[in-house]
Amino acid sequence: MKGRKDGTMDTRRIVSGIRPTGELHLGHYLGVLKNWVELQSDYQCFYFVADWHALTSEYKDPEVIAQSTRDMVGTWLAVGIDPSRSVVFRQSDIKEHAELFTLLSMITPVAWLERNPTYKEMREELKDKDLGTFGFLGYPVLQAADIVMYHADRVPIGQDQLPHLELTREIVRRFSFLYGGGILKEPKEILTEAPKVPGLDGRKMSKSYGNAIFIAEDEKSLESKVMQMLTDIKRMRRNDPGEPDDCNLYPFHEHFTDEKERERITAGCRDASWGCVECKRLLVNNLIARFSPVWEKIAYYRSNTAIVDEVLAQGGARARAEAARTMERVRAAMKIS
Ligand code: TRP
Repeated sequence: MKGRKDGTMDTRRIVSGIRPTGELHLGHYLGVLKNWVELQSDYQCFYFVADWHALTSEYKDPEVIAQSTRDMVGTWLAVGIDPSRSVVFRQSDIKEHAELFTLLSMITPVAWLERNPTYKEMREELKDKDLGTFGFLGYPVLQAADIVMYHADRVPIGQDQLPHLELTREIVRRFSFLYGGGILKEPKEILTEAPKVPGLDGRKMSKSYGNAIFIAEDEKSLESKVMQMLTDIKRMRRNDPGEPDDCNLYPFHEHFTDEKERERITAGCRDASWGCVECKRLLVNNLIARFSPVWEKIAYYRSNTAIVDEVLAQGGARARAEAARTMERVRAAMKIS
């Protein structure tokens, strides 16, 4: 937190959540978690496990949610989320989220939800899941409740979540119009760039495509995954020159290999003095160097789950205190107190 000129602390707020629907992969690490860690030095951050949001699509198989919650929080801690600075909690521990969701749903037109592009896309994409539920339609209202509960100034999200944030702002404006301003805050986004690393097969990295490298990958499987990655198809033989811009592997080097080494391998790829197998070995080594300390911590939290539970308990208490204050004002405004 930065000090203001008048000596008070600048406590601009961040709120963000991840749905616990399985293991976190390098796409999450580069696209979300690295940012979360950095934001901690400039903002008061509220980071939570969006387990109710996970249920909107995984309601037939809720087992995975319970399992991934603890693992996920362990991974957050391992990569540098610091519970002494940030409020780390589980959405379903704070029942006020459900109450605010109910109250906000009273003033949210169904048409706003039905025209939400993310809603339409997800229903198209996830045809195997029956998403014709009330809960799934109301997903952005629950998300709005998460955000305004803690008076977020900024919400770090990807492009796909922008419509949800716009809906949040619309709901806040409607609330302020009906019940008075100054109670709920309109949040702005911090647009986080989608990480430019593809999955093993060149498509977007996603657990459901089976092409992900997980943060908690062990050394052996990390190596075998990198070794099977597709490189520039022009390099059929070792002596064929290639182009890093046409290679699935190279974007990983941009994140995990330093600039000097990158210059060397880019030139070596273009004049065929450097082969894909060597290039993959280098990446494997750099990934191992970067993630070994993280793996150690993940293993530690997985065998000491009491620590993770304690983090969630303490974060939950801090979140609950804040949520209670917000709800008092919201109930009073809506004449429910
Ligand atoms: N919808 C977000 C996602 O799928 C998760 C989420 C739930 C969230 N509530 C939030 C993100 C509040 C930011 C703020 O990624």
